[in-house]
Amino acid sequence: MADPALALTELFRPAFDALEPGADPVVRPSDRADYQVNGVLPLAKRLGRNPRDVAQQVLDAVDTGGVCAATEIAGPGFINVTLSADFLAAQVHAQAIDDRLGVRRAASPERVVVDYSAPNTAKEMHVGHLRTTIIGDALVRLLSFAGHTVIRENHVGDWGLQFGMLIEHLVDIGEASAAAELSTGDLTAFYRQAKQSFDADDAFKERARERVVLLQAGDPETRRLWHVLVDQSDAYFQQVYDRLGVLLRPEDTRGESAYNDLLPVVVDDLAAAGLLVADDGAMCVFPPGFTGRDGQPQPLIVKNRNGGFGYAATDLATVRDRVDRLHATWLVYVVGAPQAQHLAMVWKTCEQAGWLAAPARAVHVPFGSVLGEDRKMYRTRSGDSVKLSDLLDEAVEQAAAKIAEANPTIVGDERATVARAIGIGAVKYADLSNDRIKDYVFSFERMLAFEGNTGPYIQYAHARISKILRDAGDDAADLAGVVPSLAEPQERALAKALVGFDAAVHDTIDKLGPHRLCTYLFDLAQTFTSFYEACPVLRAGVPEDVRRSRLALCAVTQRVLAQALQLLGLEAPGRM
Ligand code: ARG
Repeated sequence: MADPALALTELFRPAFDALEPGADPVVRPSDRADYQVNGVLPLAKRLGRNPRDVAQQVLDAVDTGGVCAATEIAGPGFINVTLSADFLAAQVHAQAIDDRLGVRRAASPERVVVDYSAPNTAKEMHVGHLRTTIIGDALVRLLSFAGHTVIRENHVGDWGLQFGMLIEHLVDIGEASAAAELSTGDLTAFYRQAKQSFDADDAFKERARERVVLLQAGDPETRRLWHVLVDQSDAYFQQVYDRLGVLLRPEDTRGESAYNDLLPVVVDDLAAAGLLVADDGAMCVFPPGFTGRDGQPQPLIVKNRNGGFGYAATDLATVRDRVDRLHATWLVYVVGAPQAQHLAMVWKTCEQAGWLAAPARAVHVPFGSVLGEDRKMYRTRSGDSVKLSDLLDEAVEQAAAKIAEANPTIVGDERATVARAIGIGAVKYADLSNDRIKDYVFSFERMLAFEGNTGPYIQYAHARISKILRDAGDDAADLAGVVPSLAEPQERALAKALVGFDAAVHDTIDKLGPHRLCTYLFDLAQTFTSFYEACPVLRAGVPEDVRRSRLALCAVTQRVLAQALQLLGLEAPGRM
């Protein structure tokens, strides 16, 4: 139990229980002391008593000796708690000898599906996909670490009317050159040319229409051509995932096409449940609570006027599949904020149809836009959407230049490896460290800075401690038995930051907000810097036991930084 708030809760609980069975002490971090026991006020209110008297009664009943150095009744009846150095030191030691660094496992592990990335076949991955990919991957790592069974699903847009057009374009330019074009990642040009032919040429348009019919009817040759598109795109997406260092693998792809056979079943079941309504030739569902701008009930179109299934039908099937086949109870959708209403309508429909019932539930993890310095959507100078791979190239290149300047002793392959870790890490961290719901301004300069809440700053803190531990040589060996002494305020502050790791991870998971872990990391790295400035470790004249104690603090800090970076999907090079 690493989070000290939990230890305090257990310490105070019997006293609260005695006053009112089940009363919660409500322990929270505090700016004035270390923690604050906030449960007295609501309890006193329920008991109709003076809160300060109740607080005093609680304090009289609790033996705070081992855990608290001081307690104080503050304001209308809060109890401020300062932890004792011995207790903190014991907690840090427990953290040091635990391979989970004190992070609890989830109380009730679940099967979680995380739906993320989901680019569209034969279309470029753009900055919008950057956010879902990075945030989704961090959530996958965090949820797995907490002990959940996590199933990654890449709901690639590989189905729909546009494939008629794309296949006909492929036929026109020839399979070999289409494959060549797509494998270099030039998806935008391919898509654009297909669209041009479609818009300009009526005969092409007609062929495209017929092709869609063939595709949906399962015509083998059409399917084969479709596969050329899908395979080339998937291979290209995988290159981007590998460069980004995200966990997505080809076997995680479950594109829209994978639900094709389920679509008629979905329609039949909706009809049988009396939920399907014919509306202007289309088959729709009207989940309650959704109205359009005109105040009229908003339809979810399951089957369009031409008899084709749409995006909504696939998403309905997806929920069924995840609950029935995958036995997931927690469906996490890392999808942009504009799709909030669509998803809410899909899930409401699934609830009505009985496909999504407690304990299973779906949650939307929306995110804002990536903006350019002009605060408009991030685009290239010519106004195109930015290709992810170009963006990553640029980040790595700039990181390499910075490393060459900052540490010229890193050369050759190592420089390239470190530049990748820093450049890609900077892009990911910049995305993760912003509250995901907000837009953020994309700036290479800012994200690559060695100062501030950036990836390089956190990675540098880790590399610096790694160097201290290397330089310490044998002194840094066998630290497992060392309970640190927390005599200096900076040692105490570092210990307090370290034991906050458990709470930071769980808070991040509860809110599905990776920026919370980033905030924690930034604070930890800064606290370490203050510690290192005030408390020499390897300097001559530092007594042996003090050096060992401080090395023990360095070693836990290094591991917490590395673990947290790993949970966010960043590398932690040993030097940079
Ligand atoms: N392919 C879609 C796009 O690129 C995102 C799909 C999101 N996932 C989902 N289950 N609807 O915008």
